[in-house]
Amino acid sequence: MGAERPVRLLQLTDSHVRAAADGELKGWRTLESLEATLAAALDGQDPPDAILATGDLSQDGSRESYRHIRRVLAGAGVPVYCIPGNHDHPPTMMAELSSAPFHYCGDVGLGAWRLVMLSTWDGDRGGGRLSPQELQRLAGVLDRSREPHLLMVLHHHPVPVGSWLDKVGLDNADEFMRLADGDGRIRGIVWGHVHQVFERQRRGMQLLAAPSTCFQFKRGAPTSDVDATRGPGFRWLELLPDGRISTRVGWVPVPVEAVS
Ligand SMILES: [Fe+2]
Repeated sequence: MGAERPVRLLQLTDSHVRAAADGELKGWRTLESLEATLAAALDGQDPPDAILATGDLSQDGSRESYRHIRRVLAGAGVPVYCIPGNHDHPPTMMAELSSAPFHYCGDVGLGAWRLVMLSTWDGDRGGGRLSPQELQRLAGVLDRSREPHLLMVLHHHPVPVGSWLDKVGLDNADEFMRLADGDGRIRGIVWGHVHQVFERQRRGMQLLAAPSTCFQFKRGAPTSDVDATRGPGFRWLELLPDGRISTRVGWVPVPVEAVS
């Protein structure tokens, strides 16, 4: 890919797919909802350069759930960069989602950008943490990257979003943000986990959360109430060669039928 054109990415997150194809979560058939979200996101669009699948892809960590995800997302015909969320089971996810077109964590150079996919998995306790090994890997990537612009991709939110989920964010967010603030090339940090839209600027970086491909929590609410006014959503990201990020959130236009 030449450095002169934008890198187009589709972020899908928190699909919470179960082993049973008709498995539900909070009234949504999550596999059906993932399929509907991908179809809505790609409708009338050129395919993205890659899909970012930012964790809690599975609800139960089962092999079958990852096979469902593999079948659906491989259908887009583009590379898929996956990271684990707290509900995922990393060894199983890695076994099922690390051969082409899937990549598990790691980093990749695309045009003028380097994307760094980070694992914040720290058990299924809700919150997350960047392990010493993962922080060391990140430092190594920052050290050897020659691209002028960097995008960080993780599951847990590194800044408060004003949600009840702030209790279960990234434990060592301060350490991560110090690193991000200090590098000078990080133009964006994107995450999942919060099941709501979040967009903020911080010292030249865009901080962005995408909605889930199934249910959303009420935006900025201190309780875990589901936002019944929203269906599944997705985020498009366009990484421009000059380091700017153009982004928009989309919603499934006719929400798939909630089952209860
Ligand atoms: Fe999560």
